[in-house]
Amino acid sequence: MKTFYIETFGCQMNAHDSEKVVGTLVQQGYEQVQTPDQAELVLYNTCSIRDKAEQKVFHRLDQFKRASGKGKVFGVIGCVAQQEGEKIFERAPHVSLVAGSASYTKLPELLVQLENGDRRVTGLSLDNSEPFDTPFTRRDNPHRAYITIIEGCDKACAYCVVPFTRGPERSRTSESVLNEARSLTELGYTEVQLLGQNVNSYRDSSPAGWDFARLLAKTGEVPGMRRVRFTTSHPRDFVKPIVDAIDENETLCNHVHLPVQSGSTAVLDRMQRLYTRDIYMRCIDWIKNSHRDIAITTDIIVGFPGETESDFQQTIRLIEEVEYDAMFIFKYSRRPNTSALQYEDHIPEEEKTRRFNVLQERQRALQIARNARYVGTTQQVHVEGFNIATSQWIGRTNQNKMLNFMDSRLPSPSNGETLVGQYLDVLVTRSSPNSLAGERAWRQ
Ligand code: SAH
Ligand code: SF4
Ligand code: F3S
Repeated sequence: MKTFYIETFGCQMNAHDSEKVVGTLVQQGYEQVQTPDQAELVLYNTCSIRDKAEQKVFHRLDQFKRASGKGKVFGVIGCVAQQEGEKIFERAPHVSLVAGSASYTKLPELLVQLENGDRRVTGLSLDNSEPFDTPFTRRDNPHRAYITIIEGCDKACAYCVVPFTRGPERSRTSESVLNEARSLTELGYTEVQLLGQNVNSYRDSSPAGWDFARLLAKTGEVPGMRRVRFTTSHPRDFVKPIVDAIDENETLCNHVHLPVQSGSTAVLDRMQRLYTRDIYMRCIDWIKNSHRDIAITTDIIVGFPGETESDFQQTIRLIEEVEYDAMFIFKYSRRPNTSALQYEDHIPEEEKTRRFNVLQERQRALQIARNARYVGTTQQVHVEGFNIATSQWIGRTNQNKMLNFMDSRLPSPSNGETLVGQYLDVLVTRSSPNSLAGERAWRQ
C-alpha cells in the first residue's frame, strides 16, 4: 500500500479540491495518513491569493524538508503550482510533481510516471474544459458537503490571481449537479454548499440552460435537503431572482456573501470590479427587502493603489449603511500577472495597517449591535460538534452564525449519544461580536 499525506491552504474551492484528490488517490490504492512523516507522497494544495499565503507554502515545504524529507515524493498542487509552474522546481528542488487544479484528473497518470522513474512531472494545462467532476470524492465533513458548480473565473479584477490560477469559467450541467445533490442526501447529508469563484455567472452547459437562481431553487427541492448555501456571489452578476428564490424556499439559507471590496466607485473602477457603489447598494436593497432576515457578509480590500482617505471614508460609510453580519478585511497585496501592478501610487504598509484596524474596529462595534438583536429569539441550529473546553455544543444557524449552546438533558456526548448532525431549536441568551450563545429550547 502506498501512503500519502495532504495539507490544504486557501479557500473552500481548494478544500473541496483536496477532497476530490483524496478520493481519486484512495481509488488508486493509496492510503491517506495523518502526518507527513508516515507518508511516501506528500502533497501541498496551495493558495496564491496574497503574497503571505504563497510564502507560507514555501516556508512549509522548506520546514518539512529540513525535518525529514528523505526518500519522499513531494508534490505541489493548486494555485501556487499553476502560477509558478516549473519555477517551483528551482525554488524547492525536492519537489517532483507540480499540478494545477485543471489537471487533477491526470494525477494518477502523473504518479505512474514518477513511479516509472521520471524525476519531475507537471500538469499545467488550463485547457481542460471539463470541471473536475469525480465520483470518488472523500468528504471531510459527514453532515455538510461542498458541490462545485462552476470552476475558474472570467472576470479580470485588477488585484486578483484567480483567473490565472484557475483559468476560464466552466459550468457543470444542472443534471450532474442535481445528481450529486441527490446522491449526497441518499448518503445522509442534509446541508450542501454550492461553490464557485462567481456562482452567479453559472450557465448550465446542457440544453436545459438553467441560470444560477434556477439551479439554487432546484437544489433546495432535492428530497432530504434541509440547507443549501452558496459562495461566492459577484455583485455585477447578482440578480433579484436569487433573492426571490431564497424568499420562496425555506431550504435555501438566508445568507448572502457579497464581496464589495471598496465603498468608493473610483476605487471599484480601478479595481475593474464592473459595478458602482450604487449598483452594489441596489443588490443590498433587494436582499434587505426580502421577507426573510437575510444575513449579509462581505470582503474588503484596504490600501488598493491610489485609495485616498476620502475613498476609505466612503468604505466606512458603506459598511455602516449595510450593517454586515461579518466581514473579511484584507490589506492589498501585489500579485504577479495582475493588471494592478501598473499602478504606482502604492499605499505604505503602515497606512494599510491603520485602515485595516480602523475598519475592523468599526465593524466589531456594528457586529456587537447586530448580534445583540438575536438575544431572546429562538434559532434553529445544525449541530456541528462539541467543545470539551467550554462544555458547549457547537451549532450553526441558517444565517451561518455560530451558536454555542448547553443542553440540560445531554450536557456532553455520552454512551455514543450525540447531537451532532441534528437540527435543534436553541434559545439565544448571549451574544458577542462573532457568535451567539444559548440553551437548547424544549417545546412544552
Ligand atoms: N471570487 C471571489 C473572491 C475570491 S478571493 C469574489 O470575486 O468575490 C477572496 C478575497 O480575497 C477577495 O474577495 C478579495 O477581497 C481578497 N483578495 C483577492 N486578491 C487580493 C489581493 N491581491 N490583495 C488583497 N486581497 C485580495
Ligand atoms: Fe478574482 Fe474578481 Fe474573479 Fe473574484 S471575480 S475570483 S476577485 S477575478
Ligand atoms: Fe487561494 Fe486559489 Fe482559492 S488562490 S483563495 S486557493 S482559488
